Amino acid sequence: MDLVFATNNQHKIKEIRPLIIDSINLLSLSDINCFEEIPETQHTLKGNASQKSHFVFDKFGVNCFADDTGLEIEALNGDPGVYSARYAGEGCSFQDNIEKVLLNMDGNINRKAKFTTVISLLLDGKEYFFEGFVNGIILTEKLGKEGFGYDPIFMPEGYNISFAEMTLEEKNKISHRAMAVNKLAAFLNLKPDNM
Ligand code: IMP
Repeated sequence: MDLVFATNNQHKIKEIRPLIIDSINLLSLSDINCFEEIPETQHTLKGNASQKSHFVFDKFGVNCFADDTGLEIEALNGDPGVYSARYAGEGCSFQDNIEKVLLNMDGNINRKAKFTTVISLLLDGKEYFFEGFVNGIILTEKLGKEGFGYDPIFMPEGYNISFAEMTLEEKNKISHRAMAVNKLAAFLNLKPDNM
């Protein structure tokens, strides 16, 4: 079965590919000639994931899924949350977002944070949701060069290295996205008529 991952983020595609069973032919947006900016204007992770998968399904009529991720920081009342991508403003970089978090967390002893991913799957026009999360802390400085986004300043619970110091395989054992994708993969595996 062909399944489109509705994202332009190559890091996400790289992370997800090894988690999806071989019988699924995972396609990217460029594989279906979709080069548009996909709108993400909702105020919840679920709403944004759903908006992105619907956009692709409505336009291209393909089975697809989209994810939306947020980093909630307890001391910042859950910010940046659903606005994680644009925390430092429209068109900002990963580095800008990290700097804003570090500045807002300066001197704060409560470093608790949580990454959550919601996936919306549209299969034959029917929608299914899958969620994953990981708890951790916000570091006081960047550590590591792997991964993307907020990875250099996030240390997952039970570890003493940041996500950006982990290999892809290590991050995929525990990450918010891996947890959500594993649920998606298990669901697809249980649908014999789709294999
Ligand atoms: P979105 O799911 O692409 O909207 O992600 C929202 C924001 O969270 C973006 O700034 C991403 O870079 C960041 N983000 C998403 N997933 C991860 C991750 O696995 N690690 C670190 N940052 C992430």
